[in-house]
Amino acid sequence: MESVTKAPIIGKRVVVRCDFNVPIKEGNIQDDTRIKSSLQTLNYLLDKKANLTLLSHLGRPKGKEKPLSLKPVSKRLEELLGEAVQLLDKLDSTLLKGKITLLENLRFWQGEEENSEDFAKQLSTMGEIYVNEAFSVCHRPDASIVGAPKFLPSFAGLNLMREIEELHKLLKYPQRPFIAIIGGAKIETKLSVIENLARVADQVLVGGKLMFEVDEHHLPKNVIVAIDNIETKDIGPKSVEKFQSYINRASTIVWNGPMGVFEDDKYINGTREVAMSMVKSGSYTIVGGGDTISALNKLGLIEEIKFISTGGGAMLEFLAGKKLPGLKALGFYD
Ligand code: 3PG
Repeated sequence: MESVTKAPIIGKRVVVRCDFNVPIKEGNIQDDTRIKSSLQTLNYLLDKKANLTLLSHLGRPKGKEKPLSLKPVSKRLEELLGEAVQLLDKLDSTLLKGKITLLENLRFWQGEEENSEDFAKQLSTMGEIYVNEAFSVCHRPDASIVGAPKFLPSFAGLNLMREIEELHKLLKYPQRPFIAIIGGAKIETKLSVIENLARVADQVLVGGKLMFEVDEHHLPKNVIVAIDNIETKDIGPKSVEKFQSYINRASTIVWNGPMGVFEDDKYINGTREVAMSMVKSGSYTIVGGGDTISALNKLGLIEEIKFISTGGGAMLEFLAGKKLPGLKALGFYD
């Protein structure tokens, strides 16, 4: 896997797979951390006089769903980059105009999640070099992640390089006790990850919506599931106390997924308590995933965390020792 710093960029058009899957409410971006995390690479490429075709998905649309358009993202990018951004809803390279183009939500096309070869080939006609700056999507075998790099010289973005380096280090030399905290939803992604993480971490604490979806009896003994809840929307005080007893002793803590529906102040307490005790524990803290980052931003605690990964599912799968298809496509495991 080669860094974008090794790519022959000058004057080329570069296809950059980003993860602009950010929370949007009534057309307003609620948290732009993920957009900002791609800026270093985008500015690096612009400094080298490259033109950019940016790719991202947003949410999980079934076909073309207008509320899931990337329009708010293109506006935010214009502000952050100080350049006009063309939002293009056709996969046609003859329509590329200006320095920066953002292709509409990749999941508006069926070929993306089906990893269609034709779609990947079409994506590759939108530039001459491919850069993956979307670590958080590397666990998805989608066309823009594993297909497009087959047709173009491919490189890893600066942030992706940094994330891998940090997580790799953690996996190799974790200071123990090493605690993983998992919340949120997306059980289909997280169940096998919980089982695998239980082999690496000393304890895996499970809260959020997941607490109702896992069956503790069928999980390894060091997986600790929340024992009470607030109206099924947050973990309760007994769970907070139990989780804190592990967090306070930990030397390394990895966290993905809020403990409750933190967007509603009524159900933010579990997430707040867990976040605060993590910070107070003085341990090495790594947090990943869009919702968890938003929660920490809301609580004003993001600066207190030692390392922030853009990846939620991707971070967990990487730490659980799974080979991520997106990294494989870049030659990371060769
Ligand atoms: C994420 O939010 O973890 C990534 O953007 C991947 O999104 P997905 O879970 O909808 O594939």
